[in-house]
Amino acid sequence: MNRLLLSFTALLIVGNFAQAQNRIGTGSVNDLYQTHCAACHGDKLQGGQGSSLVDGVWKYGSTDAEITKSILDGKPEVGMVPWRGILSEEQVRSLVIYFHEQTQLATASPVKKVDPEGTVFTTDSHRFTMEKVTEVEDTLWSMAFMPDNSILMTQRDGPVWRHKDGENHLIEGTPEVWQHGQGGMLEVALHPDYDKNGWIYLGFSENIGAKEDGKDAGMTAIVRGRIKNNQWIDQEDIFRVPGKFHTSAGVHYGTRFVFDDGYLFFGIGDRGRMDMAQDIKRPNGKIHRIHDDGRIPKDNPFVQKRGAYKSVWSYGQRNPQGLDMDPNTGLLWETEHGPRGGDEVNVISPGVNYGWPEITYGMNYNGTPMTDETAREGMEQPKHYWVPSIAVCGIDFYEGDKFPKWTGDLLVSGMASQELHRLVIEDGMVVRDEIILKGINRVRDVLSGPDGYIYVSLNTKGPNYGELYRIKPAH
Ligand code: HEC
Repeated sequence: MNRLLLSFTALLIVGNFAQAQNRIGTGSVNDLYQTHCAACHGDKLQGGQGSSLVDGVWKYGSTDAEITKSILDGKPEVGMVPWRGILSEEQVRSLVIYFHEQTQLATASPVKKVDPEGTVFTTDSHRFTMEKVTEVEDTLWSMAFMPDNSILMTQRDGPVWRHKDGENHLIEGTPEVWQHGQGGMLEVALHPDYDKNGWIYLGFSENIGAKEDGKDAGMTAIVRGRIKNNQWIDQEDIFRVPGKFHTSAGVHYGTRFVFDDGYLFFGIGDRGRMDMAQDIKRPNGKIHRIHDDGRIPKDNPFVQKRGAYKSVWSYGQRNPQGLDMDPNTGLLWETEHGPRGGDEVNVISPGVNYGWPEITYGMNYNGTPMTDETAREGMEQPKHYWVPSIAVCGIDFYEGDKFPKWTGDLLVSGMASQELHRLVIEDGMVVRDEIILKGINRVRDVLSGPDGYIYVSLNTKGPNYGELYRIKPAH
């Protein structure tokens, strides 16, 4: 008994000791670095007694695993101390992300501010110019073409516009939105049979009087309606979440729509409650599938599971703000904002767990480590990810013929990075990532127009100022 007690106490002491050591500098990754590494590697990671960690040269290997090994095992023979047992695995992981991030910042050429008008942009396979279509007075969140080539546009603080013959016409009577943080009027899309049924779908954040811990709470909702003489009419509920699931967070609402074969796919972010992304009883942090009239399909993956949120199609998502179906393969592609370092591109399959927040390539935005795990059995890996994050947003497969070498490629918008990317996909894998536009401003959404041109929504004059640009081949 005594011995048992003794060894138990000993265990506790060892446990506490390890924990206390791990606690050294668990603040931001920069504190951690300055405390333990800067003396030899320089306060700006530029090198000193130890090598530069931002010149892109990795003497002992450049993969995450190799850098992790350099840190854990050290190189005692040349004066690099081993950190195994002193730093936690999470801390080491955050340092690896930090080195990638800082290397990219140090080696990237500074972003040159470009005037979209009058510039000829050159990429590997096409040259293009940009022309302004229109502007709105807040973030232009989403756009959709109508059969007459007019363009529906959502303005995040509420209004829905129809851009026709060079003018923006306000659609009267659209739902009231809950303007809270990243919320507001978000997605707009036409039903694929719009010609016959006239349905237009809107995704937005709403508050229905729900509270979380005494604070106003909200969630993403979807309705459909028709537009007649610029009036929103015939509104029907398509997806609404009971108030008990609403959260008071101002972040991660999703959402984009994809229609396929009578179904509607859409994503909702974790609503600032990351652990809920793993809980299939909750709607947040998920991709959903419903019938286009809102009914739950009987063959959804968790329909039989007791207590499950029946519309859930996949889970473990952080904040999906890009969704499109590859017209060639029928695969559903999704982009989601990761934490600091860890924006993801996924292919969505039913019932699959995409891992957030259990696995991620990123760390917390304040630089504190989250987890050292980037992969785990039973959790799906992204097809592509960005460290540092580009703040990945809307995506669209390019289906036009004006840029023939891009047909079939996935266009991806980046807000923080102010970039438009082109991902080349072969056999379900991303084989190339080309930045085709950079330095104008935040790119929030991208759309392959029926005319073959590419449309991007930018915030050009300030964070709350939305502009729609058309990208045309330069001759
Ligand atoms: C006492 C000095 C010293 C300290 C403290 C130190 N390092 Fe080093 N580090 C070195 C030296 C010396 C090398 C080997 C340089 C060489 O061989 O060119 C090195 C190499 C490395 C490498 C391998 C670089 C490459 O090119 O492959 C990494 C990664 C690294 N250190 C990370 C860290 C981290 C993270 C910390 C803090 C937790 C740290 N070091 C603290 C001296 C130090």
